[in-house]
Amino acid sequence: MVPGPMPRLPDRLGRPLRNLRLSVTDRCNLRCQYCMPEAEYAWLPKANVLTYEEMLRLVRVFVQLGVDKVRLTGGEPLLRSDVTVLVRMLAALPELRELAMTTNGILLADKAAALREAGLQRITVSLDTLDAATFRLLARRDDLQRTLAGIDAARAAGFEDIKLDTVVIAGVNDGELGALLDYARSVGVEIRFIEYMDVGGATHWSPERVVSRARILEAIGRSHGAITPLPRTDSAPAERFRLGDGTHFGVISSVTQPFCATCDRARLTADGMWFTCLYASEGTNLRDVLRRGASDEELLAQLRSVWIARRDRGAEERVGTPDRRPLADSAALRQNPHLEMHKRGG
Ligand code: GTP
Ligand code: 5AD
Ligand code: SF4
Repeated sequence: MVPGPMPRLPDRLGRPLRNLRLSVTDRCNLRCQYCMPEAEYAWLPKANVLTYEEMLRLVRVFVQLGVDKVRLTGGEPLLRSDVTVLVRMLAALPELRELAMTTNGILLADKAAALREAGLQRITVSLDTLDAATFRLLARRDDLQRTLAGIDAARAAGFEDIKLDTVVIAGVNDGELGALLDYARSVGVEIRFIEYMDVGGATHWSPERVVSRARILEAIGRSHGAITPLPRTDSAPAERFRLGDGTHFGVISSVTQPFCATCDRARLTADGMWFTCLYASEGTNLRDVLRRGASDEELLAQLRSVWIARRDRGAEERVGTPDRRPLADSAALRQNPHLEMHKRGG
């Protein structure tokens, strides 16, 4: 076994590793335009997908390096069978300060209570629209009511601090920001508006479709009055704001004002590829290291050497790129499917 916790390890830009986003499956039951707009996808071969035991083993080693927050993502994490089993295994790690999940909510009505019981602490649900026709257009499935039922179920199961994530796309849902904010307030959850990013998978991205933080705030100011910024409390990507009536909301401005300087996140795909940036083209294949029979010490040494060499600031590097385009076109994604956001965990 690896000896006790180590002091936090800075990368080349002085950033510690605290946050692990663990994608448990690359499959999804929606096809959101900003993430999976293509007609077909090649799924990860089953044999390559890590077992829960393998995931637990890796998380334990990441914890030794300073990770104290794990967020389960996908694809859609609730599509992985018995994901509550993994939740229970991770919830038993005393070093984890936070265990969270990002889901599209479609399967949450059935699973929220079991997830809570297994020890999941926080849930974030993706919700981009309240209009059934826009939902169909954006996600290519007719599931708005199931998503809303999922949010209700999460509340009923006793989750606190539920959040909603809304990717704002010009001409699609940018006319709905006030309505989404009102809905979030009515169900007592905090909504975050996210700038549409040019990440791998977002093959339909163009600069004209980005609604900037400034425009998001203008629109909310018009519909909801004065907005007061709240002080930042951690390295989370969202900037938070308060309305006159006390309602809080967030804006994640990954395109116009990236936050790479404080990025303490790492991403592990369901097949054990480790990426130190959302935009990174190369990752580290931890599955092979694991399946070759490496000891915890060897794994730890490998993780440490990758993190201390990390210089990623993918979103910052892309600011000001002339004629900015998506990170990868369809052909590049077919060549390197690990670039896709639904593999890397949204
Ligand atoms: P909390 O602050 O605990 O709610 O977590 P979070 O904001 O990290 O989690 P969430 O999955 O809700 O992230 C929200 C969105 O922010 C993601 O879906 C991405 O669009 C964006 N995002 C998250 N992590 C990163 C990151 O490392 N880099 C960039 N550029 N964007 C990110
Ligand atoms: N831009 C911004 N956020 C994205 N996500 C996926 N693709 C994009 C993108 N192109 C994030 C959203 C979504 C989560 C699953 O992943 O927050 O809710
Ligand atoms: Fe972190 Fe890369 Fe996102 Fe910047 S672009 S915040 S370095 S993951």
